[in-house]
Amino acid sequence: TAGPTYEAIDPVRGITNISSGKMGYALAAACAAAGAEVVLVSGPTRLTCPAGVTRVDVASARQMQTAVEEALPGADVFIGVAAVADYRPAEVAADKIKKTGNDELVLRLVPNPDILAGVAARADRPLCVGFAAESRNLAEYATKKLHGKKLDMVVGNLVQDGMGGDHNTVVIFDHAGQHPLPRAAKERVAQGIVNHVVRLLNQSSNA
Ligand code: C5P
Repeated sequence: TAGPTYEAIDPVRGITNISSGKMGYALAAACAAAGAEVVLVSGPTRLTCPAGVTRVDVASARQMQTAVEEALPGADVFIGVAAVADYRPAEVAADKIKKTGNDELVLRLVPNPDILAGVAARADRPLCVGFAAESRNLAEYATKKLHGKKLDMVVGNLVQDGMGGDHNTVVIFDHAGQHPLPRAAKERVAQGIVNHVVRLLNQSSNA
């Protein structure tokens, strides 16, 4: 998955996250270059689909979850890079909501499903990789995600190091420990992440 999700409030407004989609698209391209058959489930971005990748466009978290479930049978690896909105409006207004003078407008939000944790909880789960974009305490929060969502690997980055830009500094967290990658263009970082995924896949097939 890549990019943000968009949760409609009414036909012209919605709730979203800031995410360029660049890291997820770079990873999809790196996986395809490594010989994988790649389905990229993407929220709204300005990016073009990498060569050799099948893109499925979605808007909301629930649409993203459905598209992921459809793409999952037979998959060896699931990499969740999308910045999924944690909440969505409880109701979507059919018509544009009109201003009511100076009164407050209250939006009721309900939690979205955790797509990655849902995939990792399946009996027939593929190797599961998550991302942790944090503003502080990276190692603590990334390790919590690794165990809490029952993942094989978490790619952690500090938001101030990577968001929106073309470069990123990441640390890979897995059950063997921490593996920092050098700061580099997102394409190069994506290759490093794919190399680590391949090492874990080889370990699990040798186990
Ligand atoms: O819990 P948090 O949102 O920080 O976890 C980030 C990781 O979980 C990312 O890999 C993201 O793609 C995934 N995620 C998800 N569905 C959600 C929330 C996060 O797949 N609803």
